[in-house]
Amino acid sequence: MAEKRETWASRGTFIMAAIGSAVGLGNAWRFPGLAAKYGGGAFLLVYILAMLVLGVPLLMMEISLGRKTKLGAPGAMRAVNKKAEFVGWAGTTNAFVITTYYAVVFAWVIMMAIFSFKFAGITAMGADAAPAAQGVFGDLIGNPELGWNNGSFAPSWTVIACLAFGWVLIYLCIRKGTVSAGKVVKYTGLLLPLIFLGILAVKGISMQGSGEGLKKFFTPDFQSVIHSVDKDGNAVNMLPNLIVDAMGQVFYSLSIMMAIMFAYGSYVKDDANIAADALIIAFSDLFVSVLSGIVMFTTMYGVGMTASDMSSSGIVTAFIIYPTAIIKLTSVGWVNAAFGLVFYLCLCSLAIDSAFSITEGVSTAVADKFKINPHKTTLGVCIVAGVISLFYATKSGLAWLDTVDNWTNQYNMILVGALECFFVGWFFKPEIILKEINKNTGSFKMPLWWFKLSVKFIAPIVLLGFCCWNIYNNHFASGTGIYGGYPLWSNIVAGWGITVLAFISGPIVQAVYKKVKKGAKEPEFDWKD
Ligand code: PFF
Repeated sequence: MAEKRETWASRGTFIMAAIGSAVGLGNAWRFPGLAAKYGGGAFLLVYILAMLVLGVPLLMMEISLGRKTKLGAPGAMRAVNKKAEFVGWAGTTNAFVITTYYAVVFAWVIMMAIFSFKFAGITAMGADAAPAAQGVFGDLIGNPELGWNNGSFAPSWTVIACLAFGWVLIYLCIRKGTVSAGKVVKYTGLLLPLIFLGILAVKGISMQGSGEGLKKFFTPDFQSVIHSVDKDGNAVNMLPNLIVDAMGQVFYSLSIMMAIMFAYGSYVKDDANIAADALIIAFSDLFVSVLSGIVMFTTMYGVGMTASDMSSSGIVTAFIIYPTAIIKLTSVGWVNAAFGLVFYLCLCSLAIDSAFSITEGVSTAVADKFKINPHKTTLGVCIVAGVISLFYATKSGLAWLDTVDNWTNQYNMILVGALECFFVGWFFKPEIILKEINKNTGSFKMPLWWFKLSVKFIAPIVLLGFCCWNIYNNHFASGTGIYGGYPLWSNIVAGWGITVLAFISGPIVQAVYKKVKKGAKEPEFDWKD
């Protein structure tokens, strides 16, 4: 198995594929939305700190564990410690759940690209243009209020059509394996999206009042975060939430704690320079997030909105703020529509390589464990995830997606991160992994103190501590304890249910393995070279 494993065609292909996975809708959609939720600069500062302290070392750790063991997340974690395999499966299951909804956000972006012609007519509406632009998305998904919508399971056919198209595109990219997808990322890589985000940023900055937005985005204001007021007018301290959201967003954005970087790392050649490559990946990702933040904040303030006008759910933001910007770009309708089209196509290209990377993380894990054909596994994962994703293509799909997104990122991913580091830091020697990270480094070497401090101490303690604090605070200490104002049962099914599923998936897979393989002993990884 190990010797037959494919490898990336070149160092550049790996870096571009990893950047392709990292840089995605999360940068354009989640990051600016979360920054707005916490008033801007405070979130940016904590985010950058979290990236340096946790994101960079953990990214290096996952890639090097994948490369060394030539296995996906569960196998690599099992090599670290036999008892840790379940952590790999928890990450894999969480990634699978994210796949199911990420595909729908991808479908929404495709849908907005197709319907961008609407911006031509809207531009001419004068004072009514902004509300009309903001209503396009809600009308298309059949949920104009963008809320719970009575929990309607009525299908939204427009979304379903785009979703089917999206899944076909995703499958076409990866049908020949992860490594062949390297060809795709060359084209869907950074350049085109960057050019368009750049143009939008210039337009945003040139709008009147945008300076206020920039100030908000770059000036940390922790006082307002600490002394926030909730919906019912009670004083709340949002700092712990901010920290958890920032850490979750670092993981989400770098595509770590989700089986992907293990999988991508397992296709990396032995002479690769992981320390340097991981830095390139992380900083490219940060750059795109900051640029998207600039676009969002300047545009928002340019059109007379403020950070507090934005929905607490980042999802809505991208489909409300960007259309508002598009119709204000020029006074000529078709120019704006054309721009809208190209802009949403750029988001499509940002999204697609992230979407297929999540799918690949899952199929690599499954194929490695059961020694089955990886290409067939990929097809299977796409079909099962495709069917489940229909759930969010209903008229209340937005609410379901919002709930699932909250749990997968606020709790599951953070817990997986804490456990991953706990096992590596305390039941394994971080030095061995560091050696792998620094194997081929030239000028930059990851220092032991940085790596050990992050993996052994900060990650397990901080992640676990804040996660528990947040669960207690959000669900037990205050108010109704219900997320998003949705019914309790929906929180239980799409929130807690998925958390439980993620953490019992390991034992379930192991039981299935025993049954299928009739108790055959699993090969153990030998750490000696
Ligand atoms: N990192 C991608 C983004 O920021 O959009 C999304 C993503 C990819 C999330 C892969 C999760 C994942 F496993």
